[in-house]
Amino acid sequence: MLREQVSLQALNTFGVAATARWYGEAASPAELAQLLADPRVADLPLLVLGGGSNLLLTRDFDGLVLRYTDDHIRAIARGRDSHLIEVGAGMNWHAFVDWSLAHGYVGLENLALIPGTVGAAPIQNIGAYGVEVERFINAVEVFDRERGCTTIHKHDACGFDYRWSRFKRDGERDRHIVVNVRLRLPRQGELQLDYPGIREELATMGIAAPNARDVFDAVCAIRRRKLPDPAVIGNAGSFFKNPIVAAEIAQALLAKHPGAPTFDAGAGRRKLSAAWLIDQCGLKGYRDGDAGVSAQHALVLVNHGAASGADLWRVAQHVQATVRERFAIELQPEPVVV
Ligand code: EPU
Repeated sequence: MLREQVSLQALNTFGVAATARWYGEAASPAELAQLLADPRVADLPLLVLGGGSNLLLTRDFDGLVLRYTDDHIRAIARGRDSHLIEVGAGMNWHAFVDWSLAHGYVGLENLALIPGTVGAAPIQNIGAYGVEVERFINAVEVFDRERGCTTIHKHDACGFDYRWSRFKRDGERDRHIVVNVRLRLPRQGELQLDYPGIREELATMGIAAPNARDVFDAVCAIRRRKLPDPAVIGNAGSFFKNPIVAAEIAQALLAKHPGAPTFDAGAGRRKLSAAWLIDQCGLKGYRDGDAGVSAQHALVLVNHGAASGADLWRVAQHVQATVRERFAIELQPEPVVV
């Protein structure tokens, strides 16, 4: 059912005020097709909302805002070492990670507490603590608006990269709506403990031989401590991607700042820490009215109360300009900016 003039304030984790001209929810591909064909919205711009946790609304949306709500989980094939699990795009990601561990699967524990839905996970290839979701993705089923039916994209056709997939490309972003994600989940597997902080956290917890649930608990503890909670202060997680640069640029940075964190990014490139760059510019805790940079983590922009999307976008541009001036490095936003 379509509703007109709907407030999106409770539907984005920044908590900024914005209104959708039209808003609708669908729980199946058939309902989706019906909504999209409605003559009142058929020719208007479309914005698909997941958990609203990776989105900055800088204005009202003069089109259709859509949520896909199906959150079923079912095993579609059971092998000896792994099972193929299909999950509705509307399922909450963290609840699914919890479900997977409770049902004896291993692998998703490092991705605990990432806000958002299962449907959004492949779109930006969510990652944390040394693991990216693409490792577990077998296929993504989308509703293709051009063809008017669902199609399945196997892993290799998804164009996964760091916080990136084909579903973010211009032209594809509005064409495909994720309806199901198929994940191949191992029954056993090695734990990924190498990301800085994980082993220390487990040691603090007094755990010498961790299992997947222990790693989940450690990741939750680190995230709760390091990242501001959107339920308490509006934010959308990391606001900028970590810049990936040529090795020479990383070397030049290290020559001047031996303490700068850099990571291998393959193909002779290095990933720099956007949080570190922003922090070095003295911007951690920066505030312009109610919009600002988190005092807890320099990569997170926060809404202290009544900031508008435009206020937050102004802070984002200030951060970009300051880092550009100081380091000649361009920061790219991670969330979708409308
Ligand atoms: N740092 C600072 N100042 C800060 C915070 C961090 O200098 O205020 C430095 C730290 O010293 C550390 C480095 O920055 O050496 C990296 O920090 P952190 O481990 O917190 O990770 P990140 O690179 O800032 C990325 C992801 C996060 C993910 C964490 C953990 C991106 C854009 N962000 O952040 O993902 O949780 O690693 O794996 O890749 C998200 O995408 O929304 C997100 C939160």
